Amino acid sequence: MGEYLEIRNISKSYGVVRALKDVSFSIARGEVHALLGENGAGKSTLIKIISGEEAPSSGSLFIDGAEVRVFHPANAMDAGIAMVHQELAVFENMTVSDNIFPNCAYATGAGFINQRKVNSEAKSLIDLFGMSISPRQKMDSLTLGQQQMVEILRCVSAGRQLILLDEPTSGLNQEETDRLMGIIRQMKSRGITVVYISHHISEIMEISDRVTVLRDGAYVGTYENDDALTETDLISRMVGRELTGTLYAARADDGIAAGEVVFEAKNLAKKNSVRDISFRLRRGEVLGFFGLEGSGTNTVSRMIYGLEAADSGELALRGKRLRKWSPDIMVPSGVMYLNNNRKNAGLLLNSPVLENLSVPLLKELSDGIFISARKMAAHAEKYISEFNIVLPSVYQLPRNLSGGNQQKLMFSICLGNKPEIIIINEPTRGIDVGAKGEIHRFILELIKNGVSVIVFSSEIPELISLCDRVIVMSKNRIFGELAKGNITNEQIMAKAAGSAG
Ligand SMILES: Nc1ncnc2c1ncn2[C@@H]1O[C@H](COP(=O)(O)OP(=O)(O)OP(=O)(O)O)[C@@H](O)[C@H]1O
Ligand SMILES: [Mg+2]
Repeated sequence: MGEYLEIRNISKSYGVVRALKDVSFSIARGEVHALLGENGAGKSTLIKIISGEEAPSSGSLFIDGAEVRVFHPANAMDAGIAMVHQELAVFENMTVSDNIFPNCAYATGAGFINQRKVNSEAKSLIDLFGMSISPRQKMDSLTLGQQQMVEILRCVSAGRQLILLDEPTSGLNQEETDRLMGIIRQMKSRGITVVYISHHISEIMEISDRVTVLRDGAYVGTYENDDALTETDLISRMVGRELTGTLYAARADDGIAAGEVVFEAKNLAKKNSVRDISFRLRRGEVLGFFGLEGSGTNTVSRMIYGLEAADSGELALRGKRLRKWSPDIMVPSGVMYLNNNRKNAGLLLNSPVLENLSVPLLKELSDGIFISARKMAAHAEKYISEFNIVLPSVYQLPRNLSGGNQQKLMFSICLGNKPEIIIINEPTRGIDVGAKGEIHRFILELIKNGVSVIVFSSEIPELISLCDRVIVMSKNRIFGELAKGNITNEQIMAKAAGSAG
């Protein structure tokens, strides 16, 4: 493995924010090199510099010994570098094969394209990487994970030598994650170099040859992933201190079973999608939902908030029956929905953080007809410090925040509504291990104050630590329920696989 990419004394500032401070290390040809660091540590910034999307403020980058003079995506592409973003860039209305070979799709108007040949080439790539999709399928019929893999195949088909993956598994379930690991191994066996950013340390331990840790924009070190390297080592290097205790907060038990039922679903069903969904949520309870891809949990999460219509069934809120419901009805009734998909996160990306945080409070914060700037700022400060959101000022735009900090911001906006019931889809996706603990502690604090939570998560440890009960879905229906004390990895997986367990 020769030296392929050399990062030498690179710094990057955005105004007063120093995103990278004098970072130097190398990436070898053919290795899987992981980047690890807390939210806002500078990981995405670094790979944007490698992919030519950003230029460093100072320092240099060498590819195969030649210094990069002009930082531009086209130059990086010519050098064989491709980036798969945290937010995907697929063409949703086109087919899989058009996405794998976009140049052919563009050319159809003018040149002659042999669509059969394109499809068959796409098919052989799909097979080589062990995926089960058809080249003729439309992109919007694929799951997020499948779309992402198509984007990776596009890079491979274009002959890219270095593939930069920014949190590729943050939208994937376990099964898709395993498949992605397989794809990365395939790329490696073909000599492709992979730079891999993830907050899931177990994945990094599984897939990487070496790990570079960044902290607060600075380089901490690069470590061989050998027997001597432990997850604990990596975490303490990443946060700069020993993390004591468990990462997950413990949940105290306090007579929830006797509490008032605040939310009830009865026989919700939708053709070809889910059936017979019935459950109750009590005051101060955390109810979890788990299911493998295609089990129907995603539909349920959207259905109980009215983002997707049910064919039949009903909901009751605090004992009051609802025949019809939609987000417009839910929000004023104290029900909030927090989504995992950053792209449609509900942030006003072009308005300052301050305004984003104030959205839910416009009524409460106004002094007569004017909105009190002082109150707005105080409200924003409260959440910024509570969640430790890293940002230069409240006037920053959310799209300039790191991914994890955007996630925390969304959480804060939701809480600003003072909800009584919160439906959360993947609460800590894309959040670093330290902040994960903060968010869990915050959820537990909320329930102490009588808020009830329904959480959909693909992370079993998260469900174990947060939930009073977990409902497991399989094949579009509820397959079983586990109560505190019986919520274990084995029990959940057995039920999710559709066996009695
Ligand atoms: N365009 C920009 N304008 C201003 N600040 C920016 C911009 N891009 C990034 N930053 C800041 O630079 C720092 C590093 O951000 P970066 O996105 O690289 O973090 P990250 O390590 O990828 O974090 P995460 O794990 O949350 O994705 C953050 O403080 C972020 O707010
Ligand atoms: Mg990032």
